[in-house]
Amino acid sequence: MRIPDEKIEDVRNATDVVDLISAYVKLKKRGKNYIGLCPFHTEKTPSFTVSAEKQMYHCFGCGKGGNVFTFVMEMEKVSFVEAVRSLADRAGIVLPTDTQTPTEEESEAERLYAATRMAGLLFHEQLRSAEGQAALDYFHGRGFTDDTIRIFGLGYSLNSWDAFVNRARAENIAPDLLVKAGLARTREDGSLYDYFRGRAMFPIVSPTSRVLGFGARKMREDDPIAGKYINSPESPIYNKSRVLYGLSHSRDAIRHEDAVIMVEGYADLITLFQAGVQHVVASSGTALTQDQLVLLGRYTKNLILVYDADSAGSSAMVRGIDLALEQGLDVQVVELPQDEDPDSFVRVHGGKEFLSLVASSTSFIEFKARQFVKAGYFTSPERTTRAIRSIVESIAKIGDELKRNLFIKDVAQKFNVYESVLHREMEQILSRGRTENRIRTERAVPRLTEPTVSTTAEPQPAGPIPPEERDLLKLFLDGDRTIISHILETITLEDFSDLRARTLIRMVLDILDVRGTVDANAVVSQLTDEELKSIVTDVSLSRYELSKGWTAMEKEIDEPEPIQIARDALVVFRRKAIRRAMERNQQTLRQVTQQGGDTRPILERQQELVQMLKSLETSGARSKPSAQNRAS
Ligand code: UTP
Ligand code: MN
Repeated sequence: MRIPDEKIEDVRNATDVVDLISAYVKLKKRGKNYIGLCPFHTEKTPSFTVSAEKQMYHCFGCGKGGNVFTFVMEMEKVSFVEAVRSLADRAGIVLPTDTQTPTEEESEAERLYAATRMAGLLFHEQLRSAEGQAALDYFHGRGFTDDTIRIFGLGYSLNSWDAFVNRARAENIAPDLLVKAGLARTREDGSLYDYFRGRAMFPIVSPTSRVLGFGARKMREDDPIAGKYINSPESPIYNKSRVLYGLSHSRDAIRHEDAVIMVEGYADLITLFQAGVQHVVASSGTALTQDQLVLLGRYTKNLILVYDADSAGSSAMVRGIDLALEQGLDVQVVELPQDEDPDSFVRVHGGKEFLSLVASSTSFIEFKARQFVKAGYFTSPERTTRAIRSIVESIAKIGDELKRNLFIKDVAQKFNVYESVLHREMEQILSRGRTENRIRTERAVPRLTEPTVSTTAEPQPAGPIPPEERDLLKLFLDGDRTIISHILETITLEDFSDLRARTLIRMVLDILDVRGTVDANAVVSQLTDEELKSIVTDVSLSRYELSKGWTAMEKEIDEPEPIQIARDALVVFRRKAIRRAMERNQQTLRQVTQQGGDTRPILERQQELVQMLKSLETSGARSKPSAQNRAS
């Protein structure tokens, strides 16, 4: 089961950390690094940093850090070996021990993925069977090309009670997994039967293209199951409130357009995507959840809801407006002509026409107002008040005060009411919200907003590593052998006061011994301890501590030469060592004085130490460029 180190290395080299993480987090370039909102904790300002150069990430907010493997482990809830395999798959690297059949030691999540993957492939294949022809015709009839069918992995489940279950048995997939993944059900006698029977299959996939579950559309009138669509139930790998259909295909376009169009249906999404409108996700006809909005917010802040007047799903989606505003998203609404959904509209008018509809989208205020008008609200003063209050309630969800005020102005003009009245109304709503918030946070339980169920405790603060030790650790992690030998000429491991720094440096030296080269990433790969991992990514992605004083003055100033850093840090080490010696000497002095002994040699030693300290300070000062020098 062990994957050879060289292979692991190959996989790591073939995977770009920025590219990988971009599947989950909207990253912005900032200097040498990329930054974004941390996927491991909730934050409003980005402290999650990704370094292309070091191929590592670190969150300066929550301390989580690692490389491509740890990222996949966290996100997909899988083991190290499975993460390597997942990335090998992605990079097209064949691992020697790679088999389709997962083994006992693999995590449940990984085995569930194997089951859903097998199902996805099988359904796709069955589209080309005699029985599947009807479904294929159906897809073609909806205008899907063969390419589109392939890209979205569409398929067909045979109209049978056991076709799937039998196939899964032949592939050695354990029955309990089939049930857990929602692919099969258990009869009273304990036997299994297929859950999806005779339906057109839409696989639902993760941002890294893992099959999580399925949407299954009715194909025949005599289908005993009522729903037009049935969907996979929730499972350990499928958390509905955190998944949006199509996101794995649309994320690049969403980033590129800096906007996302939200539709309801699987078919709507696919038709739009095929027509070239690719920054689109589907809510699958349910109300939007906070987690989905947080997920989208990582890619873009501009949400465009497509509203189809006849659909119940649309009203559910619209109920998500306030939630979206709360998440800091800008919400626009596109209203489709009567009796149309995005799918039918695009098939008649084309993608270009749809985009011009999007371009003429209205603000959520306009939209809400129109809904109230339609419902006959602006007929009496009481009802008008209620409508306006509801709109102001939405505005109050916006975190940005300036934006709130602009919207209030807008409402005042539109409904011909005094701005001051609206402001007072909003103040009341806001202060109510603040009290509720306080009560809520007082009882708050920390909550993860990401598909991660890491049970590891947060690293315990064991006191920060002294700056000079951090700097040297950073140099060790950079792996320059000349610098490392230079440092080791002056000090040894035992000179480090911080045990964590010692452990890490020992690892660096061990790896260097075995492989001849080392870097921070190699150390991270060998670490299981969360705190140590966090220290490595933190130290490697941070600036040098001792040079902070003067780098702070000019943000983008180059880091000093490593050799200079080493000298500065070693000066501090030496100063501390001398100080310790002085303390010990003082103690001896006290003892000897009490015992009435000869204090002269001790005093001489003290003089010597003071002298050493002095010369150290002057040489130290000389070796450290001042802010003025750098600025000129
Ligand atoms: P619609 O009924 O608008 O379906 O539901 P649609 O996508 O336009 O269906 P087609 O065009 O007839 O194939 C919108 C979405 O709501 C979910 C599905 O995700 C669907 O795509 N839905 C709908 C269900 O989950 N179950 C249902 O019974 C109906
Ligand atoms: Mn439709």
